Amino acid sequence: MIKKAWYKEGVVYQIYPRSFKDSNGDGIGDLRGIIEKVPYLKSLGVSIVWLSPVYQSPNDDNGYDISDYKAIHPDFGTMSDMDELIEVLHKVDIKIVMDLVVNHTSDEHEWFQKSVNREPGYEDFYHWKKNKGNWSSFFGGEAWTYHEIRKEYYLHLFSKKQPDLNWDKLEVREAVKDIVKYWLDKGIDGFRCDVINLIGKEDGLPNGKFSLILRGREHYLNHPKSHRYLQELAKDVLNQYDCFTVGETGFTTPEIACLYQKEDLRELDMMFQFEHMAADNHFVKWFPKKFKPMNLKKPLSKWQNGLNGKGWNTLYLENHDQTRSVSRFGHPDWYSESAKMLATMLYFQQGTPFIYQGQEIGMTNANFTELSDYKDIESLNIYQLARKKLLYSHRKTMKLLSIASRDNARTPMQWDDTADGGFGSDRPWLKVNPNNVTINVKNNLRDEDSILKYYQKIIQLRKQYPIIVYGDYQDLHFKDKNLYLYQRTYNEESMIVICNFSKKFITIPDDIDLTGYIKILSNTASEERLLSPYEARVYYKESTKKA
Ligand code: NOJ
Repeated sequence: MIKKAWYKEGVVYQIYPRSFKDSNGDGIGDLRGIIEKVPYLKSLGVSIVWLSPVYQSPNDDNGYDISDYKAIHPDFGTMSDMDELIEVLHKVDIKIVMDLVVNHTSDEHEWFQKSVNREPGYEDFYHWKKNKGNWSSFFGGEAWTYHEIRKEYYLHLFSKKQPDLNWDKLEVREAVKDIVKYWLDKGIDGFRCDVINLIGKEDGLPNGKFSLILRGREHYLNHPKSHRYLQELAKDVLNQYDCFTVGETGFTTPEIACLYQKEDLRELDMMFQFEHMAADNHFVKWFPKKFKPMNLKKPLSKWQNGLNGKGWNTLYLENHDQTRSVSRFGHPDWYSESAKMLATMLYFQQGTPFIYQGQEIGMTNANFTELSDYKDIESLNIYQLARKKLLYSHRKTMKLLSIASRDNARTPMQWDDTADGGFGSDRPWLKVNPNNVTINVKNNLRDEDSILKYYQKIIQLRKQYPIIVYGDYQDLHFKDKNLYLYQRTYNEESMIVICNFSKKFITIPDDIDLTGYIKILSNTASEERLLSPYEARVYYKESTKKA
């Protein structure tokens, strides 16, 4: 029996503040912009907001490099704006979750400055080595950089400006607990824990074995120490609050996830896994391959079955690091149908839904063609690497960026069809996708048949039918390459979800007996057993007992 919890019943909406709504015209989205849009969030029906970082930061990695965890970056506003946002959201019964980025800090954080200068107590706050290690960085290139002042190498699994904290040191763990407590005392309701399964590192930071990707990863991924440190954080702080955590945990399997989610230890309440994000690439997004529906269905179903009754899934297709789902897995000729089908396929599964800003109106990849339009540090690093190390042509590298760059997901939110998309500035920090003339919130609100209206319906149904939240999951016709078909069961109730993942007309298999079921959702008007391209339907039956 699954233990009930508000964070299992809620729907999360992720806001990437830089790109959401600019209230003062400086080109950068801000907290007052979010406050302005709270009624929009309420009308969508979401119950939890996840805010990507708004802390003080030199913005080497758009706020994922924090220089002061208890200050708001002036680009986003002030601490009193933040307090107001928490209050305004709570007033309309929306909870708020913040990003906890504590595998690393910014190199401009005072802890790092003190560590560089070997100030007492800070000498080993970070990982320092006399000799250079051979680990590689997630952003391409090396993970060890020489520091001229300290005359040693420091570890940074991400950019040079994101040194990794040394969690072995009690004072580091205490400093993190202090930050967590600070924000929970302000009233926030939980954390999305950035790359949290990287915090524990092997003693002595030994060199990694040869590997084309992420050399050294065997010495830190899901290290037993990470479990211990998370248990300590839960015991000392989190368990005293009514909050939840969602870990960002790449390189995990359902078996590993269950280790993080043991109910008595509560290391993490749920996790973002990445296996389904490889449905259109060779495990690394910079090596793309043709998308096949089976490559999405297999991992999703593996996680549904693997965590059923043992852990809790997150249901996501997009975030600020992933390109737009309708561009990846949908079909341009059936744009609206496929966007709705993807939502149906995902959000009727077991787990907490996460919607990334703009996904609910079917925002697409921007596919920039000029290098100067890209702002993301990862994309710019990869451009250099591909050109210099892999000897790719400019054209080929630009093609790669247009498919896989994170900037595809970071273009300003498309509120209306005006030149700035209603974002609030003529000079947004990242260009507006020109398709805002048709794809925008205003149009979606006007059209009863829009993607946005469909998302509203899904969220409404999740509130109405506990089976969607707590029901068991079973695959049907798993081997079918074009259909994604599954059943949910809860007490006497049953739900059948049917998604046509192709541009063909397909008949619902004969053995799917829909007698006694009512159709509670679909993205087309058809009634026959013949499914049109990218059609999605959800059927519900109150009692499976024969009358
Ligand atoms: C994961 C975040 O989602 C991503 O945006 C960031 O670049 C890395 N962690 C480093 O913090």
